[in-house]
Amino acid sequence: MGESTQVIAIDGPVAAGKTTVGRELARRLGLNYLDTGVMYRAITWLALRRKVSIADEAGLGQLAQESTIRLVGQDSSTVLVSGERVGPELWEPKVVRNVSRVARVPEVRRALVEQQRALAAEGRMVMVGRDIGTVVLPDADLKLFITASAEVRARRRWQELRDQGQDPDFDQVLEETRERDRIDSQRADSPLIPAEDAVLVETDDLSAEQVTDLIIQQVREQVQKQTQLNSGSGQN
Ligand code: DC
Repeated sequence: MGESTQVIAIDGPVAAGKTTVGRELARRLGLNYLDTGVMYRAITWLALRRKVSIADEAGLGQLAQESTIRLVGQDSSTVLVSGERVGPELWEPKVVRNVSRVARVPEVRRALVEQQRALAAEGRMVMVGRDIGTVVLPDADLKLFITASAEVRARRRWQELRDQGQDPDFDQVLEETRERDRIDSQRADSPLIPAEDAVLVETDDLSAEQVTDLIIQQVREQVQKQTQLNSGSGQN
């Protein structure tokens, strides 16, 4: 990879494969990785623990403003939130049920976006979320919007739950997927939409590895274009 691609923004709906692809991309390109979803989950977890009502927007905003979230390790699966170490708890059903509601509170978003920008300030990062290309890092070197049909995403999520030893009902998983899409894409603040200059990656018929290969190809093409532009302007 050339020096020019330092920050890659990845957005897309739930279970589109952003996390798997983002992690693999970061590993293969030697970049840091941040899944911003864990930050919204961490605030949700903290609110439930401190008994701040999910309906109390001011209380949630204050909590987000007071809470510094630090990543533990490289894979965005464990964080320190206000000094407490949290990992698998962030994917527990009670957090999953409430996180979309926490993520639509403007004060929560403002506080977390600020922390996300500070983490990206040093560059060399793949950042994954819903509003990275549109709001958090509008100047990212490459923006990707990874998506797949609701059925395919629900099937992946259903399989994941089965692999964890659960016995999920497919129709219910599909319904929950659609509900989360609805909340994420219809909220007033930073709805889930592709940035105008994002590359759309449709993953219905592709494995995570194929998607990563495709994106690496995009990165190479972009670096090549950049190099041609630079050498062109050098001749003038
Ligand atoms: O990607 P995820 O499932 O871990 O995200 C958890 C929730 O946080 C989900 O409701 C979308 C929301 N989210 C967001 O609003 N903005 C982000 N940048 C990342 C996640």
